[in-house]
Amino acid sequence: MKHFINIKDIPVSDLRKIILDAKKRKKKRKNLNILDVDKNSPLKGKFLIQMFEKSSTRTRLSFYLAIKQLGGGTLTLRPDELHLAKDESLADTAKILSTYGNAFMLRTDSDKKLKEFKKHINIPIINGLSPSSHPTQILSDIFTIEEIKKKLISKLNICWIGDANNNVINSLIAASVKFSFNLNIGCPKKYEPKKHLLRWAKKNRGKIYIFNDAKKAANNADVIFTDKVISMNDKINKAKKIKDFKKFQVTSKIINCAKRDVIFLHCLPRGSEVSNEVFLGKHSKVWRQALNRVYVQKSILLYCLDKL
Ligand code: CP
Ligand code: NVA
Repeated sequence: MKHFINIKDIPVSDLRKIILDAKKRKKKRKNLNILDVDKNSPLKGKFLIQMFEKSSTRTRLSFYLAIKQLGGGTLTLRPDELHLAKDESLADTAKILSTYGNAFMLRTDSDKKLKEFKKHINIPIINGLSPSSHPTQILSDIFTIEEIKKKLISKLNICWIGDANNNVINSLIAASVKFSFNLNIGCPKKYEPKKHLLRWAKKNRGKIYIFNDAKKAANNADVIFTDKVISMNDKINKAKKIKDFKKFQVTSKIINCAKRDVIFLHCLPRGSEVSNEVFLGKHSKVWRQALNRVYVQKSILLYCLDKL
């Protein structure tokens, strides 16, 4: 069974297959309405169960559209409406999900829970964001970068500025090893990536370079990413953390250190980590980035359901 839980555990040949399928499918939808179904309805009769333990705007909507465009159906569960965590075990819940559904998309506040579901479930699980990773976001972002730059990501310099110890950058680090691209990270010393992740990257010949200076990190970049300084459920002193990142806001000055045709990406929602000028400026591709999640997640669903 093919799950989609962490980029680092999925063969790069499979990740490439997903991207290629997404590219073909996107092209074929040029004249279709958002809810029109792809030719041959490849997931006709299939049911995706989604559950969100944390807020979501994009992931929720893009998975809804993804399964609909493939001819299947979906239902979004709210954990507080289930028996789970009250009077029913996770193991029994997982069995029930497997009885009714064909795939399970989970956004969770616990990596342990994701592992537990994987142990007990008989249908593919897709990680729609956990404390340690956000794999559907990053695979989709690679698709967006290659679509805009018309080059393989391995030929580009990717830069991340901001909190380097959250789910999105963890998946970007994993992707940088898998797809073999240069990744410059600009962050305060205290917020560098987790040591075990850097050790794994080094062991796997990752090209990851850390700077405690945003301008140096942005030098010669083709792509600049950032993410919120305060992630959902971040249990820290928020005011202090925002202050620590004062010099790491992506402003025009930072953009000017990169290549002239640099693109700016942000998974959203945004906070103080990017200036309005950059976010709404000509380098920003954030709206296309958000839309592309539909296309890539369709191919992730097909991959998980053995239809690629
Ligand atoms: N980027 C992203 O995952 O957005 P949501 O939290 O709105 O789903
Ligand atoms: N790092 C952010 C990503 C939101 C999509 C968070 O976890 O809140």
